Amino acid sequence: MTLPSRQALVPFVSVENMMRLVLHVGIEQMMVELTHAIEADFRRWPAFDKTPRVASHSDIGVIELMPTSDGQHYGFKYVNGHPGNMRQGLQAVTAFGVLADVATGYPLLLSEMTILTALRTAATSAMAAKWLAPRDARVMAMIGNGAQAEFQALAMKTVCGIEEVRLYDIDPAATRKCAANLAGRGLRVVSCDTAEQAVLGAQIITTCTADKQYATILTDNLVGGGVHINAVGGDCPGKTELHRDILLRAGIFVEYPPQTRIEGEIQALDPDHPVTELWQVIAGEAPGRTDAGQVTLFDSFGFAIEDFSALRHILKRLEGTEFFLELDMIADPDDPRDLFGMIIRSEGQ
Ligand SMILES: NC(=O)c1ccc[n+]([C@@H]2O[C@H](COP(=O)([O-])OP(=O)(O)OC[C@H]3O[C@@H](n4cnc5c(N)ncnc54)[C@H](O)[C@@H]3O)[C@@H](O)[C@H]2O)c1
Repeated sequence: MTLPSRQALVPFVSVENMMRLVLHVGIEQMMVELTHAIEADFRRWPAFDKTPRVASHSDIGVIELMPTSDGQHYGFKYVNGHPGNMRQGLQAVTAFGVLADVATGYPLLLSEMTILTALRTAATSAMAAKWLAPRDARVMAMIGNGAQAEFQALAMKTVCGIEEVRLYDIDPAATRKCAANLAGRGLRVVSCDTAEQAVLGAQIITTCTADKQYATILTDNLVGGGVHINAVGGDCPGKTELHRDILLRAGIFVEYPPQTRIEGEIQALDPDHPVTELWQVIAGEAPGRTDAGQVTLFDSFGFAIEDFSALRHILKRLEGTEFFLELDMIADPDDPRDLFGMIIRSEGQ
């Protein structure tokens, strides 16, 4: 059997190895590192190729490709969103991704991204809150206590200093699961019976529910002044979480307007409703929160650059570890023009 060449081998991070890597680094430390990696890339936003993700919708979900490049590296993520999957014992969101070298086009990394998406989504929320939430925010409401929830709460604790998380889900079993997972992690955890109870005293409200419809997880009367909202779950045409009146009085911050206007909460608004791109706040080109009483909204859908940053960080973090396998993924004959000959010569070996 001929051994594959060095260039044929691509590091692959399986789910098992991603879990080992995350535990090795520490979940909270990993979220801090991802926040820094994403923030560094938001700061150089104009350097990236940007395009709305390529979505294939069905009645019950969506499958999407999310590509971007900074001219040196190219990355893409495959991701699905199927809110009904949970009822069949499946994840609503699963993902994997590739990072490649632009100079040769050869892949540098293939990775699971279901766990990595949860980590990078939480890191992105925390990064946005760091720039937009009131400075003294210590209490957070977490509405929707599914797969993403614990990541969101822990990132807010580690990056923004949140001390209390108030949980609410229409399914009390989800809240029980979330509270049990967060126990002993340095947060005061309060389980609530209604969204109204959850937002009491919260300066940060994160909505992270899954339902393919125009839902109203938060009504206008629930949102007081000086609050920062992270709307994570509205990320598809026809899938939103906030009442329109909240949007009309909030300072709205987004990742990439051409995609947010199709997929974010602001699909409910006029196409020219003013929004600020979050990268501009981070790069010092636009103001963030303008006064203590302002309601700020990070209308997040998850942009390709966040995945790109996460993949690059994982590649760096793999150095010197054993948390990957090498996949014989790229056909790489000694003579690049002799692809056919490589097959023939392998016969009987
Ligand atoms: N913005 C992003 O970058 C990003 C990234 C990942 C996931 N998401 C989105 O986040 C959402 C949550 O993902 P997940 O993996 O945690 O899903 P999940 O199915 O594991 O959890 C969703 C939870 O929401 C609860 N829920 C549904 N309707 C509700 C309501 N009206 N009030 C309160 N709770 C309600 C469900 O009971 C469930 O526990 C999905 O919509 C997903 O598409 C966004």
